[in-house]
Amino acid sequence: MTHAEIAFDRCRDDFPALARQQDGQPLAYFDGPGGTQVPRPVIEAITRYYSRGTANTHGPFATSKETDQLIQATREAVAALLGAPAWWCISFGANMTSLAFALSHALARSLQPGDEIVITQLDHEANRGPWKALAEQGALVREVALRPDGTLDPEDFARQVTARTRLVAVGYASNLLGTVNDVALARRLSKAVGALLLVDAVHGAPHFPLDVVAMDADFLLCSAYKFYGPHVGILYTRPGLLETLEPDRLCTVDPEAPWRIETGTLNHAALAGVKAAVEYLASFGEGSELRTQLQDALANIEARERQVARHYAEQAARIPGLRVWGPSFLALHRAPTVAVTLEGISPLEAAKRLGKRGVLVGDGHFYAARASEVLGLAEGGGVLRAGMSLYTTEAEVDRLVEGLAGLARR
Ligand SMILES: Cc1ncc(COP(=O)(O)O)c(C=O)c1O
Repeated sequence: MTHAEIAFDRCRDDFPALARQQDGQPLAYFDGPGGTQVPRPVIEAITRYYSRGTANTHGPFATSKETDQLIQATREAVAALLGAPAWWCISFGANMTSLAFALSHALARSLQPGDEIVITQLDHEANRGPWKALAEQGALVREVALRPDGTLDPEDFARQVTARTRLVAVGYASNLLGTVNDVALARRLSKAVGALLLVDAVHGAPHFPLDVVAMDADFLLCSAYKFYGPHVGILYTRPGLLETLEPDRLCTVDPEAPWRIETGTLNHAALAGVKAAVEYLASFGEGSELRTQLQDALANIEARERQVARHYAEQAARIPGLRVWGPSFLALHRAPTVAVTLEGISPLEAAKRLGKRGVLVGDGHFYAARASEVLGLAEGGGVLRAGMSLYTTEAEVDRLVEGLAGLARR
């Protein structure tokens, strides 16, 4: 067996929540895109922080020094996950949405009349709302069109980016449909006009090896609770860029990166969990350094989840009246997140019935409300979304498929 096969075999025991039962059946968690389950090393790291003595930063005593060291070590671990050149490129916040609003407030202070912002119809509202708010500053907010196959229209992308564009905000992967966007195209187009590129990698970070340098992103956002950690938002900023922005900040805050955009006291215990989550991800790969181990691990996770998601999409597509939305598994690079609709039953009703069988799937638009509207899904209550995580098994998928087939036969 390979290192990765052993790790995937073992991992079911790492998550206490996977042992939870309902009416004698183990719960099958398919809502990873809404937040994954948490492995024991992460839970223990959080408990350890509190047990050893909590403290605020910059004090001349042991627990405070430990807190400072922990925060820095967590920035280093996240930098390794994202391929950032240094720990000080990584800032933390309550969640991705708060960090996006913090950036939006900062950008608002430097906008000129006639400036334009480009967002997409596919993105989660967290990567649309903060930029749509810039219209209040007089910015023109343009939207890249979503095609019926669940991909962004590249020609429309080229049309929307103009000489007036200041920022292009695009998702790495869609939390609704699993589409992986052409970030390289977004970079080429934004660079050609001197615009900033912001990537929402909340749905990318759990499933793919990421490299902010190769992506050439100016900003990248993600959220640790989507990759087996606690609720902490993460912002990567290109070296030198944060110091040029004017975020909301107290005069007492260090004006340098990474602190410049951070407000108040961070959640130190949760940061201990973020570091443990990155190390946990790394355990699925091999390598001489944390960065190489993480790259290998995420490639293994991508391959494994893709196989399980494909198994689901193929089985589900056989169910009469069921439609799979989003890009095909055969042709495209794609996240293991599968949206379906079933004729004659609303996504909410289907999710409720599956939930009664211990199969936990979500329903609705999952905050990708514009995409749901454009695809004509909004009126029917959106989609039923099943997300594969590194702990998802084909046996769990078979339970989901069996449940769906039962609903289709009603
Ligand atoms: C693609 C995507 N972007 C942004 C967010 C918002 O993240 P947060 O909850 O950390 O604000 C989510 C959350 O579901 C998401 O899936």
